[in-house]
Amino acid sequence: MYSIETRSLTKSFGDVLAVNDISFSVKQGEIFGFLGPNGAGKSTTMMILTSLLKPTSGHALISGFDVTSNPKQVRENIGYVQQESTVDEYLTGRENLLLQAKLNHIPKNEINKRIDEVLELIELVDKQDQAVVTYSGGMRKRLDIAGGLLHHPKVLFLDEPTVGLDIQTRRKIWEYIKKIHTEFEMTIFVSTHYMEEADQLCDRVGIIDNGKIQIIDSPENMKNAMGNEVISIVLDSEKNHDSFVSEIKKIEFVKKINQDGSKLTLFASNGTEVIPKIFQISSEFGIKIQSISLTQPTLDDVFISYTGHEIRDDDSGFDRKREHAKMKRLRA
Ligand SMILES: Nc1ncnc2c1ncn2[C@@H]1O[C@H](COP(=O)(O)OP(=O)(O)OP(=O)(O)O)[C@@H](O)[C@H]1O
Ligand SMILES: [Mg+2]
Repeated sequence: MYSIETRSLTKSFGDVLAVNDISFSVKQGEIFGFLGPNGAGKSTTMMILTSLLKPTSGHALISGFDVTSNPKQVRENIGYVQQESTVDEYLTGRENLLLQAKLNHIPKNEINKRIDEVLELIELVDKQDQAVVTYSGGMRKRLDIAGGLLHHPKVLFLDEPTVGLDIQTRRKIWEYIKKIHTEFEMTIFVSTHYMEEADQLCDRVGIIDNGKIQIIDSPENMKNAMGNEVISIVLDSEKNHDSFVSEIKKIEFVKKINQDGSKLTLFASNGTEVIPKIFQISSEFGIKIQSISLTQPTLDDVFISYTGHEIRDDDSGFDRKREHAKMKRLRA
């Protein structure tokens, strides 16, 4: 039995198709990641999987329980750490966990033991009696995660667990997540828009963009499928390069090309053979190459290859989109 199974899951908000016909399965004990930019549909999917939001159509099962018809069993089996912190800043760490334990109906005689256990795990024993308002961003997130573990769920959902944290803190949080994964032997579903996070943490990753899954595979396989090398080229102007590009596509060893204005990204299995040919074609077409570089593929490259754009750590575009959607709703 799968820990998570979805079949043609779809969710629309008015005319915004937030989740578009998504099907995937997550095996027991896997760390599965949803990698996608702002507004891709990560949180919406997660809210459906945690039974907080009803799908427009399609099905989702958690540990075999249908999220729509068996929400109670679903909630007993999951922990859910939301994107935005839900802890009360004016309570201490321990008081927050106590509240969470009561909400989760943990038997009274078990509560203190469970709290000690999770505090130990996320290394907040020393800070447990301080008000959360004095905690750093990383400590708050650790407390959030601890709250999701108290009832020993089989499946843990983490919605962008490290968003907004600096890179060192982010790495620390990954270590905690790995530790939790080993100690509790649980399935973890994590969403992120950080490539490195998906790469470091996940057994398999689904790339999601505009509500659709573009590919699901292990980070390793995704990178290997791109060929061994990435050639990045910047051409001299924005003029039409179409015939030049189609000529480059014909070069042996070139697996795939992405074009973004005058920037070309080539995925090739033998870069050192390809580069001289590129120069040859460019001189035939009278096109000047501003820069050219050869690198190993990263998950970034995989993302570009499947979505046609970069994943940007920049919320401005998304805010506009969200505002737009909000305006539409108000007008409707
Ligand atoms: N309650 C809602 N009403 C209307 N539209 C919504 C609602 N919730 C989400 N959306 C829209 O659905 C799409 C997907 O949003 P979602 O929050 O799932 O994305 P996300 O991948 O979690 O993004 P982020 O990285 O910013 O958290 C967006 O276009 C968003 O504007
Ligand atoms: Mg989100």
